Amino acid sequence: MAFFSKSTTPAPAPPEEPSADLPAHVAIIMDGNGRWARQRHLPRIAGHRAGVEAVRAIVEACAARGVRVLTLFAFSSENWRRPESEVNLLMDLLLTSLQREVDRLHRNGIRLLFIGERAVFNAKLIEMMDTAERLTAANAGLTLVIALNYGGRWDVTQAAQQLARRVEAGEIRADEIDAAMIEGHLCLRGLPEPDLFIRTGGEQRISNFLLWHLSYTELYFTAILWPDFDARAFDDALTSFAARQRRFGRTGDQVEQAKGA
Ligand code: FPP
Repeated sequence: MAFFSKSTTPAPAPPEEPSADLPAHVAIIMDGNGRWARQRHLPRIAGHRAGVEAVRAIVEACAARGVRVLTLFAFSSENWRRPESEVNLLMDLLLTSLQREVDRLHRNGIRLLFIGERAVFNAKLIEMMDTAERLTAANAGLTLVIALNYGGRWDVTQAAQQLARRVEAGEIRADEIDAAMIEGHLCLRGLPEPDLFIRTGGEQRISNFLLWHLSYTELYFTAILWPDFDARAFDDALTSFAARQRRFGRTGDQVEQAKGA
């Protein structure tokens, strides 16, 4: 498994100003690994392993097309409800895949970030996340955000707690808290909001992913199971995105006029 195939030359640097038709930030729920495995009479973990291959393809595609941020929902705060054996195998897979790939991601100018409550993970995984973030912190290529033990409600709750502590400490007044301040205490602070959300595997729901951030995100659902989601399928999602008119509350006429101005 490789997030970047060995034979390829380093990915081209992202264009300075990505076109408005290209999402700056893509967020993905990678669903369907279990069904992919079942269709092949394989254990579920085989689907997750194949899912790692799809991660490689989509990371490469994002870097090559100039997407600035890719956020992947790798393990939700609800995924602990799965059978213990699957959770353990998934943790091993995450650790080994990331251990194996960090150097290559770094060489390709990719910055790695992890979001979610990490204290619950074992010491090795926490150490790997901290080291990978430190190593790649100055990279200017694609930012790859991996959501692990993440939940949108948890994210908003921890932001509220931070703000409440600041009020208690007398640093800010409660009535100073506005949307920008809340956003500044969420895990994705400093990054552009997701422009395009993709969910594979046929379900059409958000499943407690980036609840705050998806307010104006374009949603794209596909029945393709995650291990089968390749660069071509990704390009189909980009084509769908490019054809949409994003109004952010304005009328279609206003948007067209602003484009022409
Ligand atoms: C959902 O499929 C998938 C997951 C909960 C895990 C996704 C994890 C990976 C692809 C592993 C690698 C990730 C990184 C970043 C290295 P499912 O099991 O819910 O599928 P089903 O709905 O068909 O049962």
